[in-house]
Amino acid sequence: MTAKITVIQEDITRLPVDAIVNAANNSLLGGGGVDGAIHKAAGPELLAECKTLVGCLTGEAKITDAYQLPCKKVIHTVGPIWQGGEQQEAILLARCYQRSMTLAAEHQLRSIAFPAISCGVYGYPVKQACEIAMSTVVEQTSYYPDIRKVIFCAFDEQVYQAYIRAMQSIQVH
Ligand code: AR6
Repeated sequence: MTAKITVIQEDITRLPVDAIVNAANNSLLGGGGVDGAIHKAAGPELLAECKTLVGCLTGEAKITDAYQLPCKKVIHTVGPIWQGGEQQEAILLARCYQRSMTLAAEHQLRSIAFPAISCGVYGYPVKQACEIAMSTVVEQTSYYPDIRKVIFCAFDEQVYQAYIRAMQSIQVH
């Protein structure tokens, strides 16, 4: 049986799932967007733990506790900055989803919520990013059957609609 995949429009910091994913930067020392919201809601202990991780490469992921957040763990991943599409952006973005799913499985986390990695400040075209997110996660759920629930958490209507269309185009139910 495969995982249940859902699309919602919500603030990811409010979700009581096993893991939420943070769209961080290479320093892992916080920033704006969803990264800023996660650090604000988690409290200063999250930054203290992130300082021990010594950054993260683009396309990789690292895990921390969630402190004041309602989830159990935070998986920090670093999406690519959009540079026109010829700089391996699609491969790197897919790798963010792959590595996050692998970390979740390794830590026995059964529900995970993703923001639209790279779709804010990093400028990735939303339609393409949502298609990569959806197809990569669908593939990964077949490798990690213990992950029972994956949530694509859109913050705005444009991203929400792009996820829905991506879901329909690959016939996820
Ligand atoms: N819940 C869910 N999604 C959110 C939230 C939230 N609370 N807040 C924003 N989003 P961005 P990036 C959406 O810019 O493009 C940071 O400064 C947002 O609408 O957060 O990967 C980091 O430190 C958008 O659709 O991440 C990096 O420097 C999506 O999350 C840089 O931004 C991602 O937007 C990373 O840029």
